[in-house]
Amino acid sequence: MSQSEIPLADIHVAIIMDGNGRWATARGRSRSAGHLAGARAARRLVEGARELGLGTLTLYAFSGDNWKRPPGEVGTLMRLFRRYLAAETARCVSTGIRLSIIGRRDRLSSQLRHAIDAAESATRDGDAMHLRVAVDYSARDAILAAASRAAQSDPTGLAAGGAQAREVFAAALGAVSHDLTPAPDVDLLIRTGGEQRLSDFLLWECAYAELWFTSRAWPDFTTADLLTALGDFARRNRRFGGLDAEEMVAASAIPVRVSSLAAG
Ligand code: IPE
Ligand code: IPE
Ligand code: MG
Repeated sequence: MSQSEIPLADIHVAIIMDGNGRWATARGRSRSAGHLAGARAARRLVEGARELGLGTLTLYAFSGDNWKRPPGEVGTLMRLFRRYLAAETARCVSTGIRLSIIGRRDRLSSQLRHAIDAAESATRDGDAMHLRVAVDYSARDAILAAASRAAQSDPTGLAAGGAQAREVFAAALGAVSHDLTPAPDVDLLIRTGGEQRLSDFLLWECAYAELWFTSRAWPDFTTADLLTALGDFARRNRRFGGLDAEEMVAASAIPVRVSSLAAG
């Protein structure tokens, strides 16, 4: 099946929303103003993705390493999350969006934790789109936590290796990330802001993700850009280590003698 035939409802897009600070600095504004513009862009994009019929959207909002930033900037970001949750929960309920916040919770304020619990339980039955927002998220920490959880809860399944161990591990990864119905692997990973790196985001889930980078800063990213990325994704040829159908036929028609390699 080519990518263009896969329904959008079965696709998982993950976005590293980067470039808020540079966007603001270039306009002579504070980094906080950039984050506010970024939160607005996220709100618009979520709505656009839902209207397109996307199945799963994961947004990287705050990494475990972002605590290294000045306290004022961290405070602004935390206030923005609370405001986002307060303002968006009702809209998510009415539009059928299920919201999950993935990442650590123990370093968040109790007010933010309560806001997260309230938003997740209010949107629990949403079936139009699964929106996952990564806050205080580190893929490496999540992998470590999941490995130790899986080793305790199902050591036999983990030791079995192969598909069974991967399933056990993926369930543990969902549980440690506070996402009890684990999302499918990422199909398309988008990073805005010009950098081309993963910055500790969804390292396990992106094993076969298609990567798409844009220099556009996050506050300027729109649903039209998402459509461009999805269009490029539809033209990619994903093989998951195998061959596509035509290559399979061609490869089986021309047997190559391994001994011919030795002959040089
Ligand atoms: C992304 O924008 C938002 C967060 C990381 C919280 P940045 O704040 O990283 O913006 P730049 O990369 O400095 O421009
Ligand atoms: C990644 O962006 C984290 C988020 C977008 C939330 P950063 O701006 O923190 O990443 P680096 O430091 O450029 O790798
Ligand atoms: Mg950045």
